[in-house]
Amino acid sequence: MPTPGDAILSPHTYADPDAMDTLFTALRRDDPVHRVEHPDYRPFWAVTKFADIQEVERQPDLFLNAPRTFLRTLAYEERARAATGGNPALLRSLVFMDAPDHAQYRKLTQAWFMPGRIKALEADIRQLAAEVIDDMADRGGACDFAADVVPYFPVRVIMRILGVPRCDEPLILQLTQEIFGSDDPDVQAARTMTASLADTVKVFSDYFRDLTAERRRNPSDDLATLFAHAEIDGRPMADHESVSYYILVATAGHDTTSSTTAGGLLALIENPDAQAQLRADLSLLPGAVDEMVRWVSPVRHFFRTATRDHELRGKAVRAGDSLMMCYPSANRDEEIFDDPFAFRIDRPANRHIAFGYGPHLCLGMHMARMEIRIFYEELLRRVASVELAGDPAWLASTNVGGLKRLPIRFTLA
Ligand code: HEM
Repeated sequence: MPTPGDAILSPHTYADPDAMDTLFTALRRDDPVHRVEHPDYRPFWAVTKFADIQEVERQPDLFLNAPRTFLRTLAYEERARAATGGNPALLRSLVFMDAPDHAQYRKLTQAWFMPGRIKALEADIRQLAAEVIDDMADRGGACDFAADVVPYFPVRVIMRILGVPRCDEPLILQLTQEIFGSDDPDVQAARTMTASLADTVKVFSDYFRDLTAERRRNPSDDLATLFAHAEIDGRPMADHESVSYYILVATAGHDTTSSTTAGGLLALIENPDAQAQLRADLSLLPGAVDEMVRWVSPVRHFFRTATRDHELRGKAVRAGDSLMMCYPSANRDEEIFDDPFAFRIDRPANRHIAFGYGPHLCLGMHMARMEIRIFYEELLRRVASVELAGDPAWLASTNVGGLKRLPIRFTLA
């Protein structure tokens, strides 16, 4: 019988929505701040209640992002330290930073991701959505929506923002999936290009270093140009930070948005009334998109590390202890959401925590919402009906999860 700690650590839990719900429902009820100890990992507290995650995230001086940001085995941390000369993380991007660096680096791109700025991209994004749905239409009424359709949309949006040419799409797709989905056996089996995560990072680094050099010579309106000219304390952003920034934007906005889009369609298939309601009134889409994000909660966790002793829901968290914030659990918290296990596109005041909270709140959340809304506007316009054509399957990943297979049959409008 696996312990709750074993279940939290197992990638397979996150490939089974029922197992995940059962695990977290029990923890929220019986031991909401749960101590996990396992020989392959440094111990940590699993934080499963919405209010407790907020309490942690709203105190960034007490709970740091560095040095432990994600769940990693001791062996991984050792390899990373060897590769970086002592740092447990291979990259130095926003998610690994704290004050004062975090605010400085976040400020570089914050304006880019504001609703007013990204609105200018709406027509381009709609064009990209329409292309992907055209390809789906050409598949003759059946496809694997999660594997063959959805991933091509966010990756093209990200490439457009970053300034990466379309011909490099296969490279970007594979690299981003390897960085985030790397504990799923299917992803591991598909590893043809790179042998380890450090190699993946190296391939990315070389690629983006060249792109930055190109933009220094030929500026454009993309993020690559912004990074090429960005200054920190009056000096050009260093290579390692610049490459880390690229990798963060490229990876953070890809599988998260794909998973939400695919999981959203499965929820609409399983809830035909909601689908009919949405088709009849597309102005419900923004609310539906937020419910999809809550429902899927593709980011399974982030970590924080305590700088001082602190009592959290009666548990004595010591300075140096780390905490895993279990977002999917918080988004099913019965104390916050009425009927949390129901998919409701008209959920009033849907204040889910799938985009995080506090100073690290997802930088791309407006972009993600806009992308998914536009995608569904185009999809619901072109596709008249959709049904399951096989069993869905979820990615076995403790990091970013969601559907990896969603076989469907569809008819065009
Ligand atoms: C449904 C899609 C998405 C979800 C669920 C999501 C979720 C998250 C979460 C949970 C965090 C950590 C927040 C925290 O620590 O409190 C985060 C951070 C971040 N996300 Fe997203 N994200 C999504 C899409 C995107 C997109 C499209 C982009 C960019 C194009 C993006 C860029 C970022 C960045 C740069 C950060 C780091 C922010 C910081 O540390 O200051 N995300 N995201």
